[in-house]
Amino acid sequence: MSLSLFRRKNISQAIKDAEVENGEHSLAKILTVKDLTFFGIAAIIGAGIFSTIGRASFNGGPAVSLLFIFTAVACVFTALSYAQFASTVPVSGSAYTYAYVTFGELFAWIIGWALVLEYAVSNMVVAISWSEYFVSMLENIFRIHFPRWLAIDYGTAKAAFSEYLKASQSGELAQLTENTNILARAYQDAPSFLGLKILFNLPAGLITTLITWLIYIGIKESRNASNILVIIKLAVIFLVIIGGVFYVRTENWTPFAPNGAKGVLLSVASVFFAFIGFDSISTTAEECKDPQKDLPRAMIITLIIVTILYVAITLVLTGMVNYAELQVNDPLAYVFEKVNLNWFAGIISVSAVVAITSALLAYQVGQPRIWMVMSRDGLLPKKFSKIHPKYKTPAFATIITGLFVGIPSMFMNMQFFIDLTSVGTFFAFILVSGGILYMDRNGLSKDSKFKVPYINGKFIVLPALIIGLWWTHQNTDGIFAHFAEKPLIVVFWLSWLGLGIGSIKYNFSLLPILGILTNLYLMSELGWTNWAMFLGWLVIGSVIYFIYGYKHSKLAKTKV
Ligand code: ALA
Repeated sequence: MSLSLFRRKNISQAIKDAEVENGEHSLAKILTVKDLTFFGIAAIIGAGIFSTIGRASFNGGPAVSLLFIFTAVACVFTALSYAQFASTVPVSGSAYTYAYVTFGELFAWIIGWALVLEYAVSNMVVAISWSEYFVSMLENIFRIHFPRWLAIDYGTAKAAFSEYLKASQSGELAQLTENTNILARAYQDAPSFLGLKILFNLPAGLITTLITWLIYIGIKESRNASNILVIIKLAVIFLVIIGGVFYVRTENWTPFAPNGAKGVLLSVASVFFAFIGFDSISTTAEECKDPQKDLPRAMIITLIIVTILYVAITLVLTGMVNYAELQVNDPLAYVFEKVNLNWFAGIISVSAVVAITSALLAYQVGQPRIWMVMSRDGLLPKKFSKIHPKYKTPAFATIITGLFVGIPSMFMNMQFFIDLTSVGTFFAFILVSGGILYMDRNGLSKDSKFKVPYINGKFIVLPALIIGLWWTHQNTDGIFAHFAEKPLIVVFWLSWLGLGIGSIKYNFSLLPILGILTNLYLMSELGWTNWAMFLGWLVIGSVIYFIYGYKHSKLAKTKV
């Protein structure tokens, strides 16, 4: 039993399976670096730049721009590993398939399970973000006041109301932000049932239903025709940067890090969220003209473009208003309302609604297809891979995705989902980077058409660890106080030690190690609650695997 948990698909089998699934209609190899870059931007730019950037700036101030750069570097290391996998196993299923050919079935299932966080849970954030801009569009363009209690979750409104009560008792009402006042009023205005206030996010639920229906009836072509939407997204961002620059007051940039490094690091989840999606470029490996060259190039170009945009937007937003005002879900429109440019805020809201819809569509299409691949492998019931006879879409998986995303997005707050999606995606990124070390060690990399550039980590990883520990000791209250303050960081240092020893023994490649460590460092900043939620998620997943997937796996029926 213990060995069969790690039964692996071999690479040629995975490729053959995909060919059988595609039948004679093998996919056309037409995508170039330009197409791939557009595809990447379409997947990356969404609620992150339109919404979570507000909360990140609120926590960390203008210095969050530096966190965007650091996170981008972690993503570049990971992107290289994704590119190597994509060139070795050019079939759909992304990290799930990669794990299947390296670490074996149990890990593959776990990654597939974690990808639900990356795709479906991140889309809950996107749906909530859509709702914010939609309400702001109605207000600024059509002068329609949408009742706020119908566009917010209970917890957020209740928290704002408690803050309002506290401020009113201490006579500090004037210090409340406008957003807190609006939400506190929403709580007061909401109808009650059996003494419980009724508040939910109706637009988030409605847009998810609409998108699910579109995907169900087969509008998947829109995924490939996303170039126009990408141009709209970029246009909004340029509009904000160019329009906003004139309203920047440089005094808002001082202090640059008002809450210190701690404040900046509080934003790890929100900042990382904004980068999620670059890995989806790797799913097009079968359709690239020259995957081994073009995939890594496209991923890196995409990351460079979005990083420049993110840094510029952060500086503009935090320059236009005081960072403390940015705890809103529609910051790009909000800052223009604050400088009394409501018509401009209106234009931003309309284009944001269009742009965010495209992000919602991309992930809502992606999730059922991952489930479809898992179902073909026997790890999920057959229904998940059943194709609708008329619409030719994975109909059941699409509906389940719709319900899975739509219902929670109506009742929970955005930050909860941001944290959950980030922790799951970090985990997937770490395993993909680790997978490269495993492939190298087991001779699987010989099949890779693109290889992560090799630098021997032997004489670097362990000495760097010693320097890192010494530096931390000097720059904190001492290494033990550092461990006591952030117990999760111990996992990071221990992994570094393990990788250092491994490098001496096995000549590990340096860049995937940097991918593991940078992602793990950022992940350790997320805090206990997020790790605990993630562990809970993994436990549920493991139970499902042992009850269902283990027995029904295709590999269980063939020789291991
Ligand atoms: N990066 C994606 C977004 O920002 C998830 O919406």
